[in-house]
Amino acid sequence: MTEIIDGNAVAQSIRDDLATAIDQLAEEGVQPSLATVLMSDDPASETYVSMKQDDCAEVGIEAIDIEIDPDADASELYDAIDDLNGDENVNGILVQMPVPDHVSDREVLRAVDPVKDVDGFHPENVGRLVAGNARYKPCTPHGVQKLIEAAGVETEGADAVVVGRSDIVGKPMANLLVQKAPGGNATTTVCHSRTKDLAAKTRQADILVAAAGVPEMIDGGMIKEGATVIDVGINRVDADTEKGYELVGDVEFDSAKEKAGAITPVPGGVGPMTRAMLLYNTVKAAGLQHGVDVDLP
Ligand code: GUN
Repeated sequence: MTEIIDGNAVAQSIRDDLATAIDQLAEEGVQPSLATVLMSDDPASETYVSMKQDDCAEVGIEAIDIEIDPDADASELYDAIDDLNGDENVNGILVQMPVPDHVSDREVLRAVDPVKDVDGFHPENVGRLVAGNARYKPCTPHGVQKLIEAAGVETEGADAVVVGRSDIVGKPMANLLVQKAPGGNATTTVCHSRTKDLAAKTRQADILVAAAGVPEMIDGGMIKEGATVIDVGINRVDADTEKGYELVGDVEFDSAKEKAGAITPVPGGVGPMTRAMLLYNTVKAAGLQHGVDVDLP
């Protein structure tokens, strides 16, 4: 029987466990806080940010909602980030990506104080992750690591294949899997749009992480019997539904399920974990900034 890995359930258990750390902070008079910054009118980005805000409220993290007109000058965004960097009541800052074309995403990521960079995207935090000394693990790959662990799958010595090399998912995912650390020690291959014979690579994978952003590009024929398949894709495709679209992953679920030993669904797999790990990093940030040694799940 193929295990369907329930991301909602694993995310809920992380949120439950975070209550301990939030209580420890409360005993020191600290309420963690997260500022989300949205400079976009993309409906998906708006939805993601509002879900992140709701998540914060649910676990007792203060959420600060900053919205910037997508047509505004880039300086408006930098000024907002500067204000948040200097505000000691703000522990975490998340600038929702992508930002408009006239704003440099690279510069935005550099502008966030690395100690408040709960995305883990600042070059200092990327460097720390690569060096095996992560401060904040990026939320999606960290969530994937937790899902693999929750499924009872050992990464040590496994052949892991990551499809996709984005800065947000693919690269940090590969870095986590390759670390000499729990949840790592995998023999890790990164595949991407220029990979020759992708199927030959993915069929070697004991653990396959699909993060290319291409709807249903991985089918059952590309999967090794019994593999653990983690689908990071959340793609809107046209469909005859009320909203006019449906969400599909990077994996063709029905055929993949026939081969996989364990697989995440879309939705309800990685998505909820990304959100839970953002709460985790925000609580961690509050602990670091206030010198409270919190117990994290
Ligand atoms: N856009 C898509 N994923 C992410 C994420 O994890 N963090 C931020 N800030 N923006 C995103």
